[in-house]
Amino acid sequence: MHYVNGDSLAVHAGREDLEGLGVHALPIDLSTTNPLPGIEIGGDSYEALATGGRPIEGGSHVYARLWNPTVARFESALAQLEGADASVAFASGMAAMTAAILATTRDAKHIVAVRPLYGGSDHLLDSGLLGTEVTFCNETEVASAIRPDTGLVVIESPGNPSLELVDIAGVVRQAGDVPVLVDNTFATPVLQNPLAHGAAYALHSATKYLGGHGDVIGGVIACSEERAEGLRRVRAITGALLHPLGAYLLHRGLATLPIRMRAQQATAARVAAWLATRDEIEQVCYPGLDGDPRGLLRTQQRGTGAMVSIRLRDGYEAAKAFTSGVRMFTHAVSLGGVESLLQHPAALTHRPVAADAKPDRALVRLSIGLEGYDDLIADLERGLAATKAVRLHEVTQ
Ligand SMILES: Cc1ncc(COP(=O)(O)O)c(C=O)c1O
Repeated sequence: MHYVNGDSLAVHAGREDLEGLGVHALPIDLSTTNPLPGIEIGGDSYEALATGGRPIEGGSHVYARLWNPTVARFESALAQLEGADASVAFASGMAAMTAAILATTRDAKHIVAVRPLYGGSDHLLDSGLLGTEVTFCNETEVASAIRPDTGLVVIESPGNPSLELVDIAGVVRQAGDVPVLVDNTFATPVLQNPLAHGAAYALHSATKYLGGHGDVIGGVIACSEERAEGLRRVRAITGALLHPLGAYLLHRGLATLPIRMRAQQATAARVAAWLATRDEIEQVCYPGLDGDPRGLLRTQQRGTGAMVSIRLRDGYEAAKAFTSGVRMFTHAVSLGGVESLLQHPAALTHRPVAADAKPDRALVRLSIGLEGYDDLIADLERGLAATKAVRLHEVTQ
């Protein structure tokens, strides 16, 4: 079925077999094991799935670490939204990142990564835990950072937490034959499709906007069928599975993703503009506020998103006062849900990042939810009022 409108696709994708099953809502398949029609067909089914393939005709799903229909429906839906052949779901965004690294660096152990990245991804790469070596660079240095043993280039756009956009096609050109993985968590498939700009992998922490309600941890990567085989093989071997209950919640979340994203983005744009008028704030980080000099909001990203970061003029003490001054925003890590959250990246999400690449201690990251603009502004006023005490204290010292 072809849909003219992406909203229709978000509602219907991955549900193609439901009519044949005689059901309307997504079924949850919790079976850990599956009957085998015979030893030989059972063995052939095992062989196909354990090496990253799909179920064979007349075969069995064998074991839920190899294949699960509820997870497969979510994967099909996300692949369609990303304009990809396939997607592979994992237990978390970090499990997805781990699988992408393992699948691409078997022989080529070097990775090029453009900062900023989510602190956990930065940590995984910097730790060398998976036997890889990383060169961190900025987006104009990718070509010179590539080596004969480079297996993967990792970028994030918009970047967490300072929301810079990275030119995906530009990085892909510099990377040559090396596959580029784009963390698309902040933009979601509603605003950006990295594969359309030449990326090999589009990764999501599904925990964020895809689920949208802060009640499921998951990760997913959209890519070609050939690359998906490599990821499914790693998943089968390492066991980093998305549980079917999580897949059900994520798939249900996709149906409302476009309208949530549009509503959250509309409020975030107004909030960012309001924050930019406040003298307690030195800088508002929000895509487009810099005038979009490279035109990436026309050519790459179809909107400005719902994440906003602010740099408080009075530094870390003001950031502390601000985060404790708000009442409606929850002071908590994570993002992308219907409730607004805020957190201090240098202390939390980006804590493991090397000192010279850590976010400024005056920076606070806001995830704008579905609350009304007026209530959000009233709460931000409360936070900013709390920073005044810091300024007064400094003036009187
Ligand atoms: C941009 C981004 N990528 C990846 C991750 C990791 O995802 P998860 O927490 O689902 O493992 C996060 C988590 O905050 C994130 O913000």
